[in-house]
Amino acid sequence: MPITNQSGTFNIGDRKVRRLGYGAMQLAGPGVFGPPRDHDAALAVLREAVASGVNHIDTSDFYGPHVTNQIIREALHPYGDDLVIVTKVGARRGTDGSWIPAFSRQELTQAVHDNLRNLGLDVLDVVNLRIAFDLHSPAEGSIEAPLTVLADLQRQGLIRHLGLSNATSKQVAEGRGITEIVCVQNQYNLAHRNDDRLIDDLARQGTAYVPFFPLGGFTPLQSSTLSNVAARLGATPMQVALAWLLRRAPNILLIPGTSSLGHLRENLAAAGLALPDDAVEELNHMADIAA
Ligand SMILES: NC(=O)c1ccc[n+]([C@@H]2O[C@H](COP(=O)([O-])OP(=O)(O)OC[C@H]3O[C@@H](n4cnc5c(N)ncnc54)[C@H](OP(=O)(O)O)[C@@H]3O)[C@@H](O)[C@H]2O)c1
Repeated sequence: MPITNQSGTFNIGDRKVRRLGYGAMQLAGPGVFGPPRDHDAALAVLREAVASGVNHIDTSDFYGPHVTNQIIREALHPYGDDLVIVTKVGARRGTDGSWIPAFSRQELTQAVHDNLRNLGLDVLDVVNLRIAFDLHSPAEGSIEAPLTVLADLQRQGLIRHLGLSNATSKQVAEGRGITEIVCVQNQYNLAHRNDDRLIDDLARQGTAYVPFFPLGGFTPLQSSTLSNVAARLGATPMQVALAWLLRRAPNILLIPGTSSLGHLRENLAAAGLALPDDAVEELNHMADIAA
């Protein structure tokens, strides 16, 4: 039985996935731009993730751009029936690697077709609209126009499920008036807990919450609290950070990113790490210290 089984499962729409998944962004080159440093290592990471029971992979065609999806296709196509690939649209990349918002009907339609082609799919399982009124954190503004475009593509049969990324509670509510929202992907981890209330609301509604930067992102979490708890439990700090998220709420699905087989194995093993209550209590205060 794969270790990832121990993380339990949760649904994204009508697709049940193991709660420990994989985020593919780190497979592109430096700055999420261009080809990976080690192409064969990228293929090996993806194949080992799936062989270890991962059946939820997060990606986007703007990683690379195109490169990450092409590597996923090369490594895993034809895909197993239980694999759910979640992608996102709403940005394109400049020739200098910059991130440019892309929300017009034409840009969103193009992005969906790019994802289909580069992943080698006829239908995308889940597409997140990545909102960018502020590029780095959720900010208010209506999402009616771009989400309506995606809902049209969903009716045409190109997309099964829709989700939101970098979204506020108000935007989730607005989105639900347009189509079913099956998941929300925002920044959240031990030290960055702005979404506490949103997570609990979504849990009550049976909607998946998928934290990006679960390990802290490009600069992984560093904290003496985390290191001390990890040392006491004979685990690594990154495993404790993931185990805390699994414990935080049942609707949290993990997509830690790595380009390294060693880190992948370490992260997946977090599925089997049960945190004692006193450790959880100590870790709960990390956000206060980081704030
Ligand atoms: N919706 C959005 O706006 C958005 C934004 C960012 C990311 N995402 C998604 O979220 C996923 C996760 O985010 P992320 O990859 O940026 O951040 P992350 O999972 O928090 O952390 C990734 C970083 O941690 C390192 N790392 C991974 N495992 C480690 C370990 N066991 N020990 C030490 N370092 C470790 C990685 O380097 P190595 O490669 O060396 O392991 C990488 O630098 C992405 O892959 C992407 O799919 C979405």
